Amino acid sequence: MTEANTVFLVGAGPGDPDLLTMKAHRLLQEAEVVVYDRLVSAEILALIPTGATLISVGKQPRNHPIPQPEINQLLVRLAKAGRNVVRLKGGDPYVFGRGSEEAMTLVENGVPFEVVPGITSASACSAAVGMPLTHRGLATGVRYLTGHCQEDSELDFDWQGLTDPSTTLVIYMGMANVAQITAKLIENGADPALPAAAINNGSTPEQRHIVSTLKDLAGDAKAAAFEGPVLFVVGQVVALHAILGLAPDVEQNNEQPNTAVGG
Ligand SMILES: C[S@@+](CC[C@H](N)C(=O)[O-])C[C@H]1O[C@@H](n2cnc3c(N)ncnc32)[C@H](O)[C@@H]1O
Repeated sequence: MTEANTVFLVGAGPGDPDLLTMKAHRLLQEAEVVVYDRLVSAEILALIPTGATLISVGKQPRNHPIPQPEINQLLVRLAKAGRNVVRLKGGDPYVFGRGSEEAMTLVENGVPFEVVPGITSASACSAAVGMPLTHRGLATGVRYLTGHCQEDSELDFDWQGLTDPSTTLVIYMGMANVAQITAKLIENGADPALPAAAINNGSTPEQRHIVSTLKDLAGDAKAAAFEGPVLFVVGQVVALHAILGLAPDVEQNNEQPNTAVGG
């Protein structure tokens, strides 16, 4: 029997091919099979040599055409068939990417694996729009949260623990529940005037963002009618966008607070 090949669980970053790691790029040149997610950008897929087999296993919110257990088993089968496999995931495989579930199945089936980190959307989006996640005197820590729970169950956070004004909150997958999240934070003591932002398609040519307040974030994000992935950032650091958000496209748009800005 062929010995199982190593499966590489590779982070593709948030979309901009220049944000791929050199290791991710090298592995993509060597791969025989690339199993990729919906949020991997077309520009990154275009870097894969034409001889490789591409398998899309993309999931949409509430629409998982290939359930996760099947993706896990697909990786096992391909590796045991001696194929050189890259599992390519948006952002970082170990940040809300279910990379660890895939890794656990590989371990259970005796398949070696290696994780290649990618730039998570929190880092990419905050850099792209000019708002740091920490800043001396404003934020001493950051919390990454999922705004979406398993099987759509109710969000069960320690809400009070999330209202520390010196901690920046970064909310992934939060679009469907942003009204509930912001209301709960305010109910539990967060300042309704706390600066907050939503970043859509960060680091891609379709990037847009709004700057708002905790109180108005849900309404402003809805009004922006974003298409594609959205990341929320809540905290005092968002105010630094007024100084650091100086990308030329932002300047040209003569940005005002609560105004959607296109890339
Ligand atoms: C399933 S999670 C995957 C996160 C990914 N593993 C990472 O490290 O960024 C998908 C969520 O990531 C965020 N996201 C991913 N790419 C993004 C982008 N280019 N712009 C804004 N948000 C993004 C959105 O909140 C989206 O709902």
